[in-house]
Amino acid sequence: MQGEIDGVTYEIPQHVAVIMDGNGRWAKKRLMPRGIGHRQGGKALEQACEDIWHLGVKYFTVYAFSTENWKRSVEEVSGIMNILRNYLKTAAERCNRENMRMRVIGDRTALDEDIQSEIRRVEEATKQNTGLQFTVAINYGGRDEIRRAVASIAKEVEEGKLDPSGVTDEVIRQHLDTWELPDPDLLIRTSGEERISNFLLWQLAYAEFYFTDVLWPDFDRKCFIEAIKYYNQRDRRYGGVKGK
Ligand code: FPP
Repeated sequence: MQGEIDGVTYEIPQHVAVIMDGNGRWAKKRLMPRGIGHRQGGKALEQACEDIWHLGVKYFTVYAFSTENWKRSVEEVSGIMNILRNYLKTAAERCNRENMRMRVIGDRTALDEDIQSEIRRVEEATKQNTGLQFTVAINYGGRDEIRRAVASIAKEVEEGKLDPSGVTDEVIRQHLDTWELPDPDLLIRTSGEERISNFLLWQLAYAEFYFTDVLWPDFDRKCFIEAIKYYNQRDRRYGGVKGK
């Protein structure tokens, strides 16, 4: 879909995914504990939801905590979980004010029960909202998501509900956590790293990738516009030939 940004017409990606990296370095640069960087990252995320919607993006998916992030120190993990807890407390009210729908992907069964129940509450309270479709990946890993999808498909085959020949791309897609979302058009990773770190492995098959040195807490509206400009220079062919 086309949209106008500061008087110029651009092709606006329908779905933007972000690996919010660099919170720790943002804090380190200021001689602060890493937790402060995550807190600032949380603030940047709230602003990002507003900015991206006003730029015309409909789906926004962010990587908040990976299945590998449990390897960090107990203090850091509990710090991130507390930021999440606080965020969730006011999320329903904030989302409803902005007509924003919030979903969580990932294996939530490993999260503390109070966080799981807050997630259910926010998802339920915002499910009618038609504005920004905001998805947060928590205890998420692309391989883990595919493993869970395969296990659930295998169970259906075992129960005779599905024939192995019926396991199409579409059937796999429907068993992923993201079954309600279109695939991302653009992946942004901040802070200079250039890898996908187990994020949306299936869904990013045809996405454009934008890498920037900006640290996530500093990533603002201007940075999103830069990413959209980059996206507009790409020539998306989905495996086909130019001009066909
Ligand atoms: C990566 O930076 C960031 C994380 C692992 C956590 C991201 C969490 C938030 C932005 C806040 C919580 C989310 C919500 C939904 C409120 P890093 O720590 O790897 O940074 P570094 O590479 O500089 O060390």
